[in-house]
Amino acid sequence: MILEFEPLSNNFGARLHGLDDGRVLDDGLINELRSGLIENGVLLLRGQEISPARLVQLGRAFGELEILPEPDKRHPDHPEIFDLTNVRKDGAVVDFEEPQAVFLRGTERWHTDSSFREIPCLCTMLYALEVPESGGETQFANMYAAFKSLPTSLRNEIEDKKLVHSYVYSRANNPGRMDPMSPEEESKYPPVAHPWVRTHADGRKSLYMGAHVSHVEGMDLNEGRALIQEVLAGATEERFVYQHVWQANDLVVWDNRSTLHRLRPYEITERRRVMHRVTVAGVDPVV
Ligand SMILES: [Fe+2]
Repeated sequence: MILEFEPLSNNFGARLHGLDDGRVLDDGLINELRSGLIENGVLLLRGQEISPARLVQLGRAFGELEILPEPDKRHPDHPEIFDLTNVRKDGAVVDFEEPQAVFLRGTERWHTDSSFREIPCLCTMLYALEVPESGGETQFANMYAAFKSLPTSLRNEIEDKKLVHSYVYSRANNPGRMDPMSPEEESKYPPVAHPWVRTHADGRKSLYMGAHVSHVEGMDLNEGRALIQEVLAGATEERFVYQHVWQANDLVVWDNRSTLHRLRPYEITERRRVMHRVTVAGVDPVV
């Protein structure tokens, strides 16, 4: 073992040691990183200055990187890096209702990234450049543990059900106001149904849900939504959650296949929160 994984809390998440800046990402190391992510759900690398080029390199250790559609939010030299920030191009902090702020505030709902896609992303990395003194934490919830702890009756009820994930739905239900999408735009995001209980390559099972979920397939809309709320409330209890309090130069990687996450509120119109985000594309459909 080259790397060491120090548990964070609730047997969930680990701080990574042994991945110094200059270390070559060879196959052995890449395997340890990948299995460490699957094992721990969330990885934290603290106190290292990570250049954009190194961040891209670290991301590639987990797989192919996505390039997000918004060109104005891409890093000028590394299109794989997305600027996740409440600071505008002109250097001013956002207004509460402007699209950039509304987008960020939308991530205060429990979700897993891009679950509205047929093949959702594998993991996401955030590297903190500037963080607020308080607020703006990211919480992660362990969907393996949450699934395991479900009462048998509830487990039986959801085991064979599918949830319909829809970007159009989650966008329309953003707590902030967003301009409606054109029918043409909407047609780029057809709803997809994924199993509520996801079975992973190693046979373990986890819940797979979150804010992109519109409804339970084949179930009465309101009954289904009530069931979703019930399961989500239990799955995000404190005993399943690791709350990450950011420091500048923290790199956090989370496994979107088996965790939910959400941003905690902060004074978004006052305090700067500047992150580099890298997203690793998924390879397997949700089964
Ligand atoms: Fe997210």
